[in-house]
Amino acid sequence: KKLYAVIGNPIAHSMSPLMHNDLFQHYGIDAHYQAFAIKEEDLAEAVKGFRAMNMSGFNVTVPHKVAIISLLDDVDPLARSIGAVNTVANENGRLIGYNTDGSGYVKALKSELQELKEKKVLIIGAGGAARAIYFTLAFEGVAHIDLTNRTPTKAERLVEECPYHAKSNILSLNEAEEQLAAYDIIIQTTSLGMSPNSECKVLSLHNLKESAFVSDIIYNPLETELLRQARDKGAKTQNGIQMFVQQGALAFEIWTNVKPDINRMTNKVLQQLG
Ligand code: ATR
Repeated sequence: KKLYAVIGNPIAHSMSPLMHNDLFQHYGIDAHYQAFAIKEEDLAEAVKGFRAMNMSGFNVTVPHKVAIISLLDDVDPLARSIGAVNTVANENGRLIGYNTDGSGYVKALKSELQELKEKKVLIIGAGGAARAIYFTLAFEGVAHIDLTNRTPTKAERLVEECPYHAKSNILSLNEAEEQLAAYDIIIQTTSLGMSPNSECKVLSLHNLKESAFVSDIIYNPLETELLRQARDKGAKTQNGIQMFVQQGALAFEIWTNVKPDINRMTNKVLQQLG
């Protein structure tokens, strides 16, 4: 039996084991996927153990996505530039790191929007998730990606560190609220609005244009306060379920060469969320 895992801390609420074990069973692959809570100080030992066990692959989540890099044998270029790995594959005994968060997000976005490159995009936030999404959109050739963050200097640094070119202005949250009508796609990447603080939202969408597309990477609750306001204004919205499913699908494909059924994965996750 092949073994796969997800490591993080905390990890108890991860939906990845359910999603991947269902796929292994569905495609008749003799494998098992297990969640492990690993403390930061134990990460190196855990990876050593995975090597000793010849583990076939694993996902990496908070707080290990950055620290894992120095423990791997190679890292693909996009993941290296993002500076974070969420998927590791054992390729003939060598542990290779990938980042499927940004590419999973972009796949989810493309499933709703035909054309991205000419759209004017605003990303809210400048943390790890914003970084993976900004770098991947710039890598894909999206021309105009602005950023807004509570701490604008963090957004400036993010843009400076990106090796792929996009035209980017940095806005304060107030400026973003005022200028919101200029954007076709708005991507919310902060944790504001996540359960149990679901009444919070990072900025007001008062000036949103009706034809805009608003996406929030949060999936618990399924509709954040921000998305509810966007829907009230007539905009199309997307929650974080598709990003989660697509990052998992890309990891599954890296490991097995099988392109999994996205609808099946989505239903499994929605079932779990009740
Ligand atoms: P992740 O890796 O999940 O993206 P992170 O790196 O901790 O998480 O980043 C959190 C993001 O949420 C940041 O953009 C942060 O803004 P700052 O850079 O100013 O810290 C944003 N954030 C968190 N709490 C916030 C709050 N109360 N108001 C506005 N933004 C907030």
